[in-house]
Amino acid sequence: MIKVKKRKILLLPGDGIGPEVIAEVKKIINWLNKNRSLDFEIDEDLVGGAAYDKHGTPITDEVFYKALESEAVILGAVGGPKWDNLDFSKKPERALLKLRKELKLFANLRPAICFKQLVEASSLKPEIVSGLDIMIVRELTGGIYFGEPRGIKPIDNGERKGINTHTYTTSEIERVSRVAFDLAKKRNNKVTSCEKSNVMEAGQLWREEVQAIHDKEFKEVELEHMLADNCAMQLLRNPKQFDVIVTDNLFGDILSDEAAMLTGSLGLLPSASLGAKDKNGNMRSMYEPVHGSAPDIAGKGIANPIATILSFSMALKYSLNLDKESKELDAAVQKILDDGLRTKDICSKGNKEVSTKDVGDAIIACLQN
Ligand code: IPM
Ligand code: MG
Repeated sequence: MIKVKKRKILLLPGDGIGPEVIAEVKKIINWLNKNRSLDFEIDEDLVGGAAYDKHGTPITDEVFYKALESEAVILGAVGGPKWDNLDFSKKPERALLKLRKELKLFANLRPAICFKQLVEASSLKPEIVSGLDIMIVRELTGGIYFGEPRGIKPIDNGERKGINTHTYTTSEIERVSRVAFDLAKKRNNKVTSCEKSNVMEAGQLWREEVQAIHDKEFKEVELEHMLADNCAMQLLRNPKQFDVIVTDNLFGDILSDEAAMLTGSLGLLPSASLGAKDKNGNMRSMYEPVHGSAPDIAGKGIANPIATILSFSMALKYSLNLDKESKELDAAVQKILDDGLRTKDICSKGNKEVSTKDVGDAIIACLQN
């Protein structure tokens, strides 16, 4: 087998269940290095509340530069009640936002897939969700999350005013739309673009620019525009009408949580945040599970590592050019779900309840065969 060049992967476990789920990914990377002649160089460091506790900041410059130099960053989760009352600039979430913004990870891919083994876990009827496979493409470095002016300022009569600004430029809309159209071409060839063009100028611009890119470059893909509130409703009414949904940062945050929950398997859903490709075809990227830090179950060894493992599988596919290994890993996950090995969050009658570590071990055992 040909030796692949050494590639750096940065693991940022973060807070809550982050360290437990990242540990399983680390096991899998080490296994791949040994058994598939791969040569990943793993580094690991603190982020979020864990970094704040040690260094007084949610992300140090050193870690930020490590992220800049890695081929892929795999992040567990950040945040928890312990850090809720910190000043805004010190909150664990700021680390995440800084990484997204400064690595220019403008396209956030959030698949919402209903695993056939978990159809019954959805709050919707099986016929509504079975076979569901949606890809939400959320714009991640613009919009109201980052717009200026922002802040809280005193105004007359002792009141205060909170300000955030929702802005988008043509190029910001174009680059994320291209990602969505390209993905649709490899899927079911349909893009639904969501905004509030009925009340927001930035929404009207969004609609016009998505349409323009479609007409110029992606005529063969079906494009539909939908108001974001209607999309929230349609996701519950008939989610299988969607293939790829492209939307802004805030609507994407909300709609992706809704879509994730209707699959009944929040603990299984991965995500990828991608930047632009440089002239050599390389790009910056970060991968993380859609679920959060789940402080209530942290340290108990019962967290579901599958979303993080599937996030690593997305890294194999999108950043590391290892499609075959990505498919094998996805298949191994399917196999252990078929075998009924489940962590507590998705365990039902007839399944065998296992620990976080057991899941990692079982997946490696499948890869072995
Ligand atoms: C997400 C999260 C983050 C966001 C938080 C933790 C800052 O909800 O990744 O969806 O709002 O983007
Ligand atoms: Mg969110």
